[in-house]
Amino acid sequence: MPVSELIRSAMDARKKAYAPYSNYMVGAAVLTNELRIYTGCNIENAAYTPSICAERTAVSKAVSEGKRSFKAIAVVGSPKGELITQYAFPCGVCRQVLREFADPERFFVIVAKNEADYRIYLLKELLPESFGPENLY
Ligand code: THU
Repeated sequence: MPVSELIRSAMDARKKAYAPYSNYMVGAAVLTNELRIYTGCNIENAAYTPSICAERTAVSKAVSEGKRSFKAIAVVGSPKGELITQYAFPCGVCRQVLREFADPERFFVIVAKNEADYRIYLLKELLPESFGPENLY
């Protein structure tokens, strides 16, 4: 898995974050089974609730282009500024959205400060005992 490429893509996407209310900039890069990368940033809104997280922007872009099987996602988030000082974990809503298109036992969530400083989790560690499409049939 090209971890460093995925992290770099997420860092690039973070630069596009539209976060004038929180000033918290997030970038995400999702890797498809075909090894294509789709990126996203958080996009806030003056009415607050229509805001969307970087992870869901990336997944929405991929799914709307016909890609529904993913291997991994890299996420970088930190208050505005070049230096990323913390690991940014996906929020609960984004974990559930990832669950829709990923096998929790195989899908990797990479939280990174930079290409060399990152942690890798399986989705099932971040969303144990989850509810997914298989539960409906
Ligand atoms: N945010 C994300 O983009 N991803 C997450 O997983 C957590 C939060 C965004 C939403 C909002 O624009 C800002 O970070 C502060 O919550």
